[in-house]
Amino acid sequence: MKETVVSGIRPTGKLHLGNYFGAVSNFVKMQHEYNCYFFIADLHSLTTHPTPQDLNGYVKHVLVEYLACGIDPEACTIYIQSDVPEVAELYLYLNMNAYLGELERSTSFKDKIRSHPDNVNAGLLTYPSLMAADILLHHATKVPVGKDQEQHLEMTRTFGNRFNRLYNKEYFPEAYAFSYSDKLVKVPGLDGKGKMGKSEGDGNCIYLADSPEIIRKKVSRAVTDGGPTAENQTKPEAIQNLFDLMSIVSSPDTLAHYNDLYNKMAIRYGDFKKQLAEDMIIANNPIRERIEDIANDTDYLRKVAHTGAEKARESAQKTIKEVRELIGFKPF
Ligand code: TYM
Repeated sequence: MKETVVSGIRPTGKLHLGNYFGAVSNFVKMQHEYNCYFFIADLHSLTTHPTPQDLNGYVKHVLVEYLACGIDPEACTIYIQSDVPEVAELYLYLNMNAYLGELERSTSFKDKIRSHPDNVNAGLLTYPSLMAADILLHHATKVPVGKDQEQHLEMTRTFGNRFNRLYNKEYFPEAYAFSYSDKLVKVPGLDGKGKMGKSEGDGNCIYLADSPEIIRKKVSRAVTDGGPTAENQTKPEAIQNLFDLMSIVSSPDTLAHYNDLYNKMAIRYGDFKKQLAEDMIIANNPIRERIEDIANDTDYLRKVAHTGAEKARESAQKTIKEVRELIGFKPF
């Protein structure tokens, strides 16, 4: 039997290179090796209160972009989370055994309190139980995600094991974060600090849908410094981030060439950024062209979402039936 894989992305805008190299590029490879469920996490995105129009538009964006990246609805199950109400039911059961202390200690919750002190809602607090519900619902063992999601996977294992102990059955398997590269990926942003992310602003992100002109402009504005002041010096964060981006999109020879120039204090950031932008364009171009075609095919999108929801619900309903029995919800 093939192992099961589950992963999702919140529809909060267009997909960026962080989403692609952290998650979606793995989805594309995994779909041929495993029994895969890839979904659009629209329930998760409600924590930030999108307008109905934005929510609907972003869900479509992610669906289109999944397909444009090469996720094949014939090879795996693609679905919209809110089309599978069993997720919400399992979320409720898991919440009964998720403790306030552990939820409050989650790094992503602490980050959110800091960045949005005016919107600390219960959905944010219980975000890890909703994510665990997504994963446990299909008995997944592998979850392709970027580095920032590792702690959520640990919590998923805690909640699954706790359920198993409580009902005295080895029911949910343990799921682990997965990447084809040797480590989980963290794609840096262009603003000189931290990861690429939508909440960091548009200038920090290269979107899959960005045109070559936009990519050139964004990369030319990326934060740098006055240049190295000693041979072979450690790179400051902003510069290291650009080299990390180059290691993702450029060839090893190109990377080695610019590293060498940096170490010899002969690097010209203008040339370096031009090369980085051109290599990003090469990585993005085929995807961007497909995005435009697929977005216009509403009938196809509707069909993909409908078929995906049916397949996902089949697996979800089986789990919910068994979970209800384990909990003790049985007919007299
Ligand atoms: P989200 O929408 O924040 O991000 C989606 C995926 O993209 C990865 N990612 C990155 N990877 C590397 N570098 C970056 N700069 C970068 N930015 C984003 C994330 O690690 C993630 O894999 N909680 C999830 C969505 C989710 C989910 C799930 C994932 C809900 N339920 C069940 C897996 C399984 C999230 O917020 O992703």
